[in-house]
Amino acid sequence: MRSTVPRLSRYLTDADLMASLASDVRHGLSQMPKALPPKYFYDARGSELFERITRLPEYYPTRAEHAILTAYADDIARRAGADTLLELGSGSSTKTRLLLDGMRATGRLHGYVPVDVSESALRGALEALLRDYPGVRMHGVVADFERHLHLLPTEGSRLVAFLGGTIGNFPPEPRARFLAALRANLHDGDRLLLGTDLVKDPHRLVLAYDDSARVTADFNRNVLRVINQSLDGDFMPEAFEHVAIWDPHQEWIEMRLRSATDQSARINGLDLVVDFAAGEEMRTEISAKFRPDGVEKELAAAGLTLEAWWTDPPGDFALSLSRPA
Ligand code: SAH
Ligand code: AVI
Repeated sequence: MRSTVPRLSRYLTDADLMASLASDVRHGLSQMPKALPPKYFYDARGSELFERITRLPEYYPTRAEHAILTAYADDIARRAGADTLLELGSGSSTKTRLLLDGMRATGRLHGYVPVDVSESALRGALEALLRDYPGVRMHGVVADFERHLHLLPTEGSRLVAFLGGTIGNFPPEPRARFLAALRANLHDGDRLLLGTDLVKDPHRLVLAYDDSARVTADFNRNVLRVINQSLDGDFMPEAFEHVAIWDPHQEWIEMRLRSATDQSARINGLDLVVDFAAGEEMRTEISAKFRPDGVEKELAAAGLTLEAWWTDPPGDFALSLSRPA
């Protein structure tokens, strides 16, 4: 009988994740204004909340990217000519199926390597994929794509996919560093498929991050639950209001948590007490939106040449294919 146990490598151990959470929380909560990095949203609950976000009527990016892949996955797969799909921040790998199907149609699909910090998301995705893609080598990797790109499997000719617009969750300088590191880890013949959400009507953008069912608010507050659980904190998530604003100069959505009252949170694992004034806002995520020429320039600055560009019919979201220059 074929094995249904996914192969999983761990470059990020629980202890590593805990150590980086501790150091990022200590640093981020002693800054003014306070800030927390977005990668800690994604424990099992946060990954599930993100999946619910992708189905919200207001959250268009997932549907838009899905529409592009439905129309063009065959074209993407043909142009990439790869036998291995390596996906960064793969989450549930739902849209990935369209790419796998496109690659299978080329007759060359050999392996799929999903990479994510969230082990629960990876396991869930791999279990379903192993059933549906018999014969394709599946190798999940628990890793931090900001730290472990050099450790990722290098077999085969690779299509490296970074979907969902997750690139927009990096601030500009770390984004440039990330793209350069990604480029340095690509071999001749590899391709990068990058999903970027595009600048559009700010009203639609804000609604996408402030939905009427308040799922995004719950996702935002989840980072406080992660801190409570992992670092023995006593944050009261409901005492923080969800804020989503469009910054027209930076062209990004900023998510914040606003303290509803004067309050303190004790984080026993860090032996730290953090004070919040009523109305004080802490940044929890940016989600940058792009323009086509900006994407091409950022790719070029990282040593990548844009080869092809696809959008959904309304032009909400883009996929770009690039190769090492
Ligand atoms: N690609 C999927 C999921 C996007 S959500 C989609 O398009 O729907 C972002 C994903 O990136 C989550 O699964 C999260 O766990 C993962 N992630 C966030 N920061 C990460 C990091 N530093 N390293 C690896 N994975 C990360
Ligand atoms: C994962 N990332 C691309 C999402 C985004 O749209 O920036 C995360 C998210 N945050 C709030 N809603 C969705």
